[in-house]
Amino acid sequence: MRRPKVLLILTLALALSAAAYQIAQAWSHHRLDQELPALFARFRIEALSGPEFKDSRELVQLGEALFFDKILSGNRNISCATCHHPTLSSADAGSFSIGQGGKGLGRDRRQYQAATTLRNAPALFNLGYKDIPNLFWDGRVEFRPLEDKKLRTPARELTSRHPEEMSKLIASIESTLEAQVMIPVTDFAEMRGKPGDNEIADAYSKAQVWDLLLKRLLSHPQYVSLFQAAFPEKTGLDQLQYTDVAKAIAAYIRETFQASQTPMDRYLRGDLEAMTLAQKRGAELFLGKARCAECHSGRHLSNFEYASLAIPQFGPGNVMTAWDEGGTYTRGVSLNTTDDFGRYGVTHAPRDRFLFRVPPLRQVGLTGPWMHNGAFTSLKAALDHILDPETSLANYEPEGIERKEFLKNLAKNKEYDAERLASFDPRARLSQALTEAEKRDLLDFIENALADREALSKEHLRVPAAVPSGIDLRD
Ligand code: HEC
Ligand code: HEC
Repeated sequence: MRRPKVLLILTLALALSAAAYQIAQAWSHHRLDQELPALFARFRIEALSGPEFKDSRELVQLGEALFFDKILSGNRNISCATCHHPTLSSADAGSFSIGQGGKGLGRDRRQYQAATTLRNAPALFNLGYKDIPNLFWDGRVEFRPLEDKKLRTPARELTSRHPEEMSKLIASIESTLEAQVMIPVTDFAEMRGKPGDNEIADAYSKAQVWDLLLKRLLSHPQYVSLFQAAFPEKTGLDQLQYTDVAKAIAAYIRETFQASQTPMDRYLRGDLEAMTLAQKRGAELFLGKARCAECHSGRHLSNFEYASLAIPQFGPGNVMTAWDEGGTYTRGVSLNTTDDFGRYGVTHAPRDRFLFRVPPLRQVGLTGPWMHNGAFTSLKAALDHILDPETSLANYEPEGIERKEFLKNLAKNKEYDAERLASFDPRARLSQALTEAEKRDLLDFIENALADREALSKEHLRVPAAVPSGIDLRD
């Protein structure tokens, strides 16, 4: 008699507590659903709309061929895809990239004396929007198509020299992305090759690099047909210019690498079940207590300003040349260091030392390693650093970074760590201490609620079987 009674009571208690748990959950969901819309709105975070350009299928097709074809590199040995591969979330999974001359893909890529890029290769998601005013970790390509249409870029040919020919080029650029994709082919380490290697590497100006590459492309009948299909309004091949190459590559990038169906986007469009309870709590922290949205605001989760997070610095170091405006081209001062001073290399303004562009955050969980030099191989470590840079800098261990040559200079750059820390942005100091449980929720939000996994599916990100030049495209 007694046993069934105990069982009954136990079952009842269980059912009750399950019900209580469900009620508590429902209540938490309800509370957060009431609160989050106003918080998102305060930081102008909105669902991302679909594409803003009407790119023809033919233009995207041409762009795809160009993106995967090594013909755009001086020595015909590297393509955009090598460092921005669809199977690697449009990046290359490494802290730094191995440039022209290397072999293999992703973590299997080997150097063979090829140069290493000075920064981490970013993923290419959502870069085609017209309201993206700057690109590169230091924002050295800037363009505001919706405002003054003023272009700033390290390619001086685009801004000052050859004003007559170049004004035609600039006039046809419609987004920062189109201006940016002209640059990699002119970079010796990335794609151009070493002087003496080939005619592109030996060209006397970037403008000549572009001319020679266009000629190279048009010597392939298949490219001639692709260009004709993509630019039907041009009556002769002589009307094509390198910005048309850039337009096609940009069209491919913005049509292909799109992430606008993240749980956060679906939630913002009104699907209250799109985010889990933990993710909603994470969003609340992101927008509130952790103060991430001080910088990661707006529909791209970036204010596109520059800030220092005092990231531990290893790798080859980077001293950029200052851009030129109105014909005054300034060569970068040699700082004789192995450090990376970020935005300072572009502006030479002392207040810009260690500042980097605030990156947009959609797909961030899928595009590690993180930060301008890929210093962190886990998002947790990146978050811990932002929340406590002193401890992180003092105890930094380059965990998971296989390529030991990249670790070079880590000890040397410590000389600058005091200055690095002093530059740490005061807005990032506003975040209050988080409990471990809160950190888990915040990580869940940035890692999963900002991830559009469908956008990485095989059907979506296909790798073509062949390219018009016939060059192997496996790496
Ligand atoms: C050797 C590797 C490599 C190759 C090849 C390469 N890139 Fe990159 N890409 C990088 C690195 C590294 C950066 C970041 C550089 C920096 O910010 O200083 C970058 C930055 C970019 C950016 C800016 C992204 C952002 O969020 O700021 C775009 C767009 C881009 N590359 C497109 C291309 C295209 C298109 C090609 C081919 C024409 C190409 N890349 C070839 C490594 C490469
Ligand atoms: C002061 C402005 C600012 C604040 C506040 C801020 N960030 Fe950032 N965030 C940046 C900048 C700048 C970078 C790039 C730094 C670098 O690479 O040197 C960055 C990089 C990141 C990255 C790596 C992105 C990538 O693609 O590698 C993540 C993740 C990130 N932030 C998340 C957060 C979170 C979570 C918070 C809140 C706890 C936060 N950020 C607060 C400015 C900020």
